[in-house]
Amino acid sequence: MNRPYIICHMTMSVDGKVTGDFLSTDASTAACEVYYEINRNRKANGFICGRVTMEGSFTGGYYPDLSEYKSVNHGKDFLPDDMTGFYAVAFDPKGKLGWKSNRIEDPDSDPGYDGAQIIEVLTEQVDKRYLGYLESMEIPYIFAGETEISVELALSKLKNIIGCEALLLEGGSIINGFFQRADVIDELSLVIAPVTAEKDDKPLFMHGSMADFELTKAESINGNVVLNYKRKG
Ligand SMILES: NC(=O)c1ccc[n+]([C@@H]2O[C@H](COP(=O)([O-])OP(=O)(O)OC[C@H]3O[C@@H](n4cnc5c(N)ncnc54)[C@H](OP(=O)(O)O)[C@@H]3O)[C@@H](O)[C@H]2O)c1
Repeated sequence: MNRPYIICHMTMSVDGKVTGDFLSTDASTAACEVYYEINRNRKANGFICGRVTMEGSFTGGYYPDLSEYKSVNHGKDFLPDDMTGFYAVAFDPKGKLGWKSNRIEDPDSDPGYDGAQIIEVLTEQVDKRYLGYLESMEIPYIFAGETEISVELALSKLKNIIGCEALLLEGGSIINGFFQRADVIDELSLVIAPVTAEKDDKPLFMHGSMADFELTKAESINGNVVLNYKRKG
């Protein structure tokens, strides 16, 4: 396979939503503990999230003053020598995420994420000074498209250049939809909290398409249902 094995790992409401206030209820907090434990135990090479999730969970809207950085025009991927450990792969087509370090440093987040090596996945749309900022921070980046990130190209680079064999896809709904339409989700790992969501909350796959999965595990943990499916065929 010319890409990493992809496990879409998500906490969901019983009505199939993955975003919104339901995630802050007591029921979901308990589900998230189960979710984090699975994240730590899967031993993947890292996790992938969309720009909105990375901002909400880790960067908090910080953005550097790009006028302080030189434009970088070499047009190549940037991979520092000392890339190791668990990767935090950000699908950030326009370079909107402001990181304060090249690793996740968030004492409030689950320990399964702390210290993860950030990798930015970008498109040609990015401000070239943002590349200067990333290089000054020793944050690796790869290009994977002109205006939209090609999931296939990004995954091929993550495997062949960086060496990722398995990655967790951890939301939100928009990025999950891109992966599902690209037909690259090998496994679903779902923690279903005993709660329903609001009407505008988003589904597991935004603009998803049909695909067949086979149930491989179903168990109840602390009042949540934990389901595993593998892609058929
Ligand atoms: N239930 C769970 O387990 C779980 C897990 C994670 C997150 N969440 C929730 O999900 C919410 C955010 O989800 P979301 O669906 O709004 O956003 P998202 O999927 O986190 O991020 C979407 C953004 O990522 C970028 N992107 C991703 N794939 C792309 C592609 N192939 N090509 C171009 N751009 C791509 C785009 O950034 P630009 O907008 O910059 O173009 C897009 O708008 C958060 O509120 C969080 O609470 C839930």
